[in-house]
Amino acid sequence: MRPKVTVVGGAGNVGATVGQYLVTKELADVVLIDILESVQHGKGLDLLEAGPILGSDSRIVGTKEFKDTADSDIVVITAGIPRKPGMSRDELLNTNAKIVGGVVEQVIAHSPNCILIVVSNPLDVMTQLALKRSGFPRERVIGMAGVLDSARLRAFIAQELRVSVENIHAFVLGGHGDTMVPLPRYSTVAGIPITELLAPDRVEALVKRTAGGGGEIVALLGTGSAYYAPAASVMEMVEAILKDKKKILPCCVCLEGEYGIRGLCVGVPVKLGISGVEQIIEIRLTPSEASALNRSAASVKELVDILKL
Ligand code: LAC
Repeated sequence: MRPKVTVVGGAGNVGATVGQYLVTKELADVVLIDILESVQHGKGLDLLEAGPILGSDSRIVGTKEFKDTADSDIVVITAGIPRKPGMSRDELLNTNAKIVGGVVEQVIAHSPNCILIVVSNPLDVMTQLALKRSGFPRERVIGMAGVLDSARLRAFIAQELRVSVENIHAFVLGGHGDTMVPLPRYSTVAGIPITELLAPDRVEALVKRTAGGGGEIVALLGTGSAYYAPAASVMEMVEAILKDKKKILPCCVCLEGEYGIRGLCVGVPVKLGISGVEQIIEIRLTPSEASALNRSAASVKELVDILKL
């Protein structure tokens, strides 16, 4: 039997695109749930009809009813509003907290053993909210941000150096916001740190573009935010979990003393396998990297405090 993945916010751009990637890779049967009357049904049916051409036997369906999500192995939460040009992710706080809080309660009532992947913004706070509302252990509540942020940095490095994206690993720590902490020292091309290959001002420019990467897309689209790369990032996390790959990816998880941070969800490298987060990888940071991470954690904490989580 194929695993079951539910995507909440399945009529939206991120949600439906997650469905598309999961079906294309035949990773799971997929339920797209949303509050709309019929759009998610249409997207689900359209994707099902793509199956014969893709060679995918994944079943995918749209629904409005949480009972159809029962016993999902993974539930991806993309529900909420995206930002408009000029807005920061943080401005979505109150609206999306209401939406995500309600969704989590419904999700866990039907899939008490699932792994939650949170995508809604502001990401780190929504992950913390989902952790608290679900009462799940931290291993099963994972925020998607670092995979996306590091994919952006990888794409920019590949473009700059004209090398394959497959040769590039990139490392981004901290919150999914303006304070994120890309680590050039640990960002490599075929194992060579980019600090050996690029002038400091070029490294700085790529790092800056990465931190503003979401906003760059929002400004270009004019309405809504990025969805192809965010959905691909979710797909990589789902694949790592369902195939028990033990893959090390940067994800948002609740730290309990790691990196000197306690009781706060922020992005760090973790090992993803069938149980969810199977290990938190701690690396030694330079004093300036550590203070950048602390600054980023402090900005997440400010929002967490507003919601009194
Ligand atoms: C981004 C949004 C989805 O970074 O947070 O594109």
